[in-house]
Amino acid sequence: MYNIVKPLFFKFDPEQVHHFVVKRLNWVYHHLPFGKQLLKLNYHFSDPSLTREVFGIKFPNPIGLAAGFDKNGEYIEALSALGFGFIEVGTVTPLPQPGNDLPRMFRLPQDEAIINRMGFNNKGVDTLAARLRTLKQKHPNIIIGGNIGKNKATPNEEAYLDYEKCFNRLFEVVDYFVVNVSSPNTPGLRELQEKGPLLTILTKLQALNLEKGSVKPILLKIAPDLTNSQLDDIIEIVLTSKIAGVIATNTTLNRADLKSSETLKNESGGLSGRPLTNRSTEVIRYLSEKSNKAFPIIGVGGIHSPQDAQAKIKAGASLVQLYSGFIYEGPGLIKRICKSFI
Ligand SMILES: Cc1cc2nc3c(=O)[nH]c(=O)nc-3n(C[C@H](O)[C@H](O)[C@H](O)COP(=O)(O)O)c2cc1C
Repeated sequence: MYNIVKPLFFKFDPEQVHHFVVKRLNWVYHHLPFGKQLLKLNYHFSDPSLTREVFGIKFPNPIGLAAGFDKNGEYIEALSALGFGFIEVGTVTPLPQPGNDLPRMFRLPQDEAIINRMGFNNKGVDTLAARLRTLKQKHPNIIIGGNIGKNKATPNEEAYLDYEKCFNRLFEVVDYFVVNVSSPNTPGLRELQEKGPLLTILTKLQALNLEKGSVKPILLKIAPDLTNSQLDDIIEIVLTSKIAGVIATNTTLNRADLKSSETLKNESGGLSGRPLTNRSTEVIRYLSEKSNKAFPIIGVGGIHSPQDAQAKIKAGASLVQLYSGFIYEGPGLIKRICKSFI
């Protein structure tokens, strides 16, 4: 089915298609008679052998939706009906912000890739928290990750305050947190991956976490463009701050070995999809081996097939996430990966 509609979708602007598709999906789930059942029947796949317990949370299956797809948590129920074991919302910032000018999302079909420079467009943490509060009352079993960031206007020296604000607002309504310091589309954000600023943010959040009574897992999402020595620092920082784990990886700035036209390749932003498959797996393997599996890793980057997901698990990931593969392969990919894990 997806193979029939995909060529049509790919004729239009990627961001417009995204909004069009998620809105239709939501309509099917909420308004079409038996729509919910239809989605579940077609896409949902459950088996007791797929469950995973990672950082104290029991996941129904190890395949999640990566951050950025449902930034404001508007489509969680419908996306969950497609079979995802968990949904990561965000990146959300304290204040709403429009993000970068359009166009800011580009398909590179020859490379099965996407370049995006969205720039953390989102409706702000208060809107997200209110929506998740209602959702959690209705569906306490849907596992939700809250991916948090800083507003563009916030200087890096005050970034920790933005992370603290998002953390406090979302604490009651998400199952785990992701500190995003690895998006290439907020000027200077990736500098927060340096040892000093990163330790400040993570130790402050972990201190807040411990004050709350019931601790929520905090994960750090990293870029695939870090050197091995920077990855060594990341291991040290995770162990020192005692956060729960790492998400590897975000999008890359690397443009090597692409088949697409120069114009497309040279669009600024982060590249995701196929060209990222091997690099993100390498980062997972390095972190897992070098740290002696000291913390769980969620593997993300260029998963377009069950084999890609298996490779990430083999490299040391406990769970995986999809974004670009979901666009290129369609929702059937989730079930195919699930089946391959049995
Ligand atoms: C359009 C788009 C928007 C994204 N927005 C975010 C975001 O807001 N926060 C984040 O942590 N990652 C974001 N990502 C990165 C993805 O979560 C993921 O880490 C990356 O795309 C690699 O996975 P993939 O190859 O399966 O797409 C975005 C990716 C895309 C394609």
